[in-house]
Amino acid sequence: MSLVVVSNRVARGKVNEPMTGGLAAALLPVVEKSGAIWVGSSGRVRHGAQKEPFAEIEALGAGALAMLDLPAAHYGGYYEGFANSALWPALHSRADLIRASQQDYLSYREVNAFMARALLRFKKPDAVFWIQDYHFLALGAELRDLGVTQPIGFFLHTPWPARAIIEGVPHHRELVEAMLAYDLIGFQTEDDRESFLGYVSCDLGLEVENGVITSRHGTSRIAVFPIGIDPEKFATQAAKAASHPDVSRLRRSLNGEKLAIGVDRLDYSKGLINRIEAFDRMWTLQPALQRTVSLLQIATPSRGAIEAYGNLQNELAKLVSDVNGRLGEVDWTPIRYLNKGFSQTVLAGLYRTAQVGVVTPLHDGMNLVAKEYVAAQNPADPGVLVLSKFAGAANELDTALLVNPHDIDGMARTIAIALSMPLTERRMRWEAMMTKLRAGTIQQWFADFVEALQETRLDKAEDKAESPSPVAEAPTLVPLRSVNTGARYH
Ligand code: F6P
Repeated sequence: MSLVVVSNRVARGKVNEPMTGGLAAALLPVVEKSGAIWVGSSGRVRHGAQKEPFAEIEALGAGALAMLDLPAAHYGGYYEGFANSALWPALHSRADLIRASQQDYLSYREVNAFMARALLRFKKPDAVFWIQDYHFLALGAELRDLGVTQPIGFFLHTPWPARAIIEGVPHHRELVEAMLAYDLIGFQTEDDRESFLGYVSCDLGLEVENGVITSRHGTSRIAVFPIGIDPEKFATQAAKAASHPDVSRLRRSLNGEKLAIGVDRLDYSKGLINRIEAFDRMWTLQPALQRTVSLLQIATPSRGAIEAYGNLQNELAKLVSDVNGRLGEVDWTPIRYLNKGFSQTVLAGLYRTAQVGVVTPLHDGMNLVAKEYVAAQNPADPGVLVLSKFAGAANELDTALLVNPHDIDGMARTIAIALSMPLTERRMRWEAMMTKLRAGTIQQWFADFVEALQETRLDKAEDKAESPSPVAEAPTLVPLRSVNTGARYH
């Protein structure tokens, strides 16, 4: 099997560089080991009619990383436009923020078609394509139009919202119909899967049986694969990072104070305003907690050219400075607010230094920061995770302190509880979460999806063999080389 993984953002194998985005950081170690070809955007654009779409192809572990310069005329409409101003807000249930022009939609489709043409280079008879995320909802259909008959799977890293929200996206029907060209569609949670199936049966009127949709493309299996991390590797990294200069400087600067940490892309789905308000409320309602704890909030700027993101950045900066100005002392800054990214290694060390991890998105597909915070803790003295019940991670990390991020008072009370939680309870909760992390690693996720994709195709081939219509070119399906256990998808 020649596996081709496609995502908009890709990562290079440099552990000491800052990394934006859960997807790229999570995929890097597994793609490196799998021997797959990872295809994505170079982050640069191409003008005119250059023949070769690939700007760079370089070795990545046992496989390769292939980066494309996307067409300049369509990049803005695709990335800032349709993907991040129409799909992203809708997928995170912010219909009020959906902005999309017809031109943006056309650019999105153009970039999907451009990517499909570029991928033909990797169309070996034994190729298996695995497309990632909302940037490429229509890529499977484009590949089929170009005659690709190999297995094509798709995984959505974001949530899938209620019908009424996705109906707010222009061309929603056309897009979801195009998605049905994928043999297998994976979601983070059962709720996402159910919302998608609900849309398909109610809005498209298609037949759904046991999670299999029948459409003009044939059949698509819809399943759940919660993405994980490599907890052991992260724990080792965190223990080692204790001596990193950034981490030791942070520890020294605390002067016996406790630390809470938040690490997010600067995005409205992350609930940053509500989180700062909750700390403000906690310090105001319980003045004894002033000077005893500060919040380190890392908010990496993201998608700055989009108005909603610029507005959020301004609003947050104002709120943080208001809280610091009002509550701060000459020797105490309540909120340490940083607009920059850190390497995974440094982050691991920062997580381990903090007694409380606050991960309180309004809505999130999974949120790997929650998992990383847990994995980074010192087993003898672990910190407490305060986690939004609207993050996909809450399904597994149910022994975290779960909060409703819209309830500011409730969050304020919960953070205070986390700060004073006795060691025995901290350890009990942490061990339960570690057990879940060990049971659902990123390696397992990767292997499960690829195995399920191959099985889905085998089932289809069997169905076709039983039916009188001619069978299309069937690729050779071989078992995965990587560790694999029974399929855990459902
Ligand atoms: O959840 C979707 C996702 O792909 C994340 O993995 C990542 O945090 C984010 O979107 C990346 O966005 P961007 O590439 O626009 O920074």
